[in-house]
Order: sequence, then structure tokens, then C-alpha cells
Amino acid sequence: VPPPATLPAPGLCCGTNSQSLPPQCVLTGRWINDLGSNMTIGAVNGKGDFAGSYHTAVSATTNEIQVSPLQGSQHRTNQKSQPTFGFTVNWSFSDSVTVFTGQCFVDEEGKEVLKTMWLLRSYVDNIKNDWKATRVGINIFTRLQSQK
Ligand code: BTN
Repeated sequence: VPPPATLPAPGLCCGTNSQSLPPQCVLTGRWINDLGSNMTIGAVNGKGDFAGSYHTAVSATTNEIQVSPLQGSQHRTNQKSQPTFGFTVNWSFSDSVTVFTGQCFVDEEGKEVLKTMWLLRSYVDNIKNDWKATRVGINIFTRLQSQK
């Protein structure tokens, strides 16, 4: 029995096949930024929450750098293809905290890139020094290719 005339021909409809989906930018994985810092982001759960670790290449302190934990959140309504996100790194080797916010893009070559801005809050021992306690900057992360 032929299908009703209102049904489309198989494979020609409705944007449900993989060819018509926009390229997906996925936060989970290993990333390196323009300073040479590395981070690993774990699975993003159903609420958009994720955890990971950060190995900075540089520090505002003279302390020995150690891998530090990060906690983040991806925007739920932006899960389509290029989500916005934020995460906090609670530095394990200093009294500082950095917050990052950004968006996960797929560039013109199909490569994923995280465009972020950050605020680094350093500890100061007196309120009079508050004015010099915050640094701001940008970081661009690209995915570290897995070694095989
Ligand atoms: C500290 O200096 O107290 C902790 C390390 C801060 C590293 C900063 S966070 C923003 C920038 N991006 C990086 O990958 N590292 C630096």
C-alpha cells in the first residue's frame, strides 16, 4: 500500500537527519588556552552543571602551581549548539578565586573554541588594598586532541 500523499519521501524531510543539524559545541573534554593552561571538563548533567580540573600555566603568586578544582554551569536553554557557560576555579595553591564566563563556538573550520572572559580575585589583607585585588582578562580555549 503506498503511503498517503501528505507524507514526505523518506529522507527528505524536516531537518531531523544529521546533515541539517548545526554543529554542536560540547564542553566536556580537555582544553588548552592561549596562555598554555590546561583544563578538563567532566560530563554536563541534565541541569547543565559540570565539574573539572584546571592546571594554570601562570600565577599572580610565587606559590608552586597545583591542579585546582573547577565548578561550572552551562545554560540550559542554550543547549542547542553553541552554549553559554560559566565556571569558577577555586585555586588550591593560593587564596584566590577566578570566575570565567564564555560561549562555546564552532568556528569556520569546524573547530570548537571557548571564548571566555575572567575575573581573578586575589586575597588582600586590608580593605585599603581592595582596589588592586581584581584582575580581568580574556582566554581562548581550543580542544586538546586525544593522543592515540
Ligand atoms: C593565582 O595566581 O592566585 C591563581 C592562578 C590564576 C591563574 C590565572 S586565572 C586567569 C588566567 N588564565 C589562566 O589560565 N591563568 C590565569
